[in-house]
Amino acid sequence: MWKLVLPALVFATSVPALDCNGHAELCNRKYSNISFMGAHNSPFVGVGPADNQLDPVGTQLDGGVRFLTAQTHDKDGAIQLCHTSCALEDAGTLDDFLGTVKTWMGRNVDEVLTLLITNEDAIDINKFGDSFQKLGLDAFAFTPEGDLAMDDWPTLGTLIARSKRLIVFMDYNMNTAQVPYIMDEFKYYFETPFDPTDPDFPQCDIDRPAGASPDGRMFIVNHNLNFEILPGVLIPDLTRIETTNSVGSIIAQSDLCYGKYQRMPNVVLLDFVGLGDAMGAQNVLNKF
Ligand SMILES: *[C@@H]1O[C@H](CO)[C@@H](O)[C@H](O)[C@H]1NC(C)=O
Repeated sequence: MWKLVLPALVFATSVPALDCNGHAELCNRKYSNISFMGAHNSPFVGVGPADNQLDPVGTQLDGGVRFLTAQTHDKDGAIQLCHTSCALEDAGTLDDFLGTVKTWMGRNVDEVLTLLITNEDAIDINKFGDSFQKLGLDAFAFTPEGDLAMDDWPTLGTLIARSKRLIVFMDYNMNTAQVPYIMDEFKYYFETPFDPTDPDFPQCDIDRPAGASPDGRMFIVNHNLNFEILPGVLIPDLTRIETTNSVGSIIAQSDLCYGKYQRMPNVVLLDFVGLGDAMGAQNVLNKF
């Protein structure tokens, strides 16, 4: 019996995953060469003017979304998911959000998931580290060995086989000397302009980091349409969501990007990600 069981155990930890994010074809693709549809402001769920999503985070994940953004703010010393301010929208604690992520990852083992956390209040990075650690999520988090060039990124198969299936980025105020798995977003990505208001999404310009070169960076396309309800006041445009989140609209902007950079977006951020056909667009970009 032991002769059979022991090699099987060894085998199980070293064999590459057969199915990666639902597609065997992705197992051998580098993380830096895959297109993900992302849920913009994933925790802001509801039908209010400060809400970006209709489905809760667990439903977004069940629907196939593998890239979540989350905005954090300091609320009396706690890390809270608030939209601009906690008076405007308070979607609970970072701990609860990470708990949802942890539970989902535990149930879905052949999946690589990315979090992009914003930290405009410059909350101490060690506090974020404490939250990950408390939940045991730090054990799943991928830590790069040094600075990664585009071709240095592991494949999804490798990330899954090593159980480093959680990729974490932060926009500002991270410190990789203290929490090495919370990576610097703008070292690894550039972004197109945020808060777009033109329903034709007629550009794929580099907005942040200002003046950055596209070379060596993955890129995030903000494809979430906003409506100017009052001068200077933007709200997510739910009325045009079926068009905005259609394969046609997402691919049209992605094609503009391809024309400029000779590669497709790594991430397309969407509001109300369960409406339209985000997964259809993702499959087209990944050529399934
Ligand atoms: C992946 O590589 C192929 C071949 O070079 C390219 O056409 C595609 O746009 C790339 N996708 C991403 C997201 O980099």
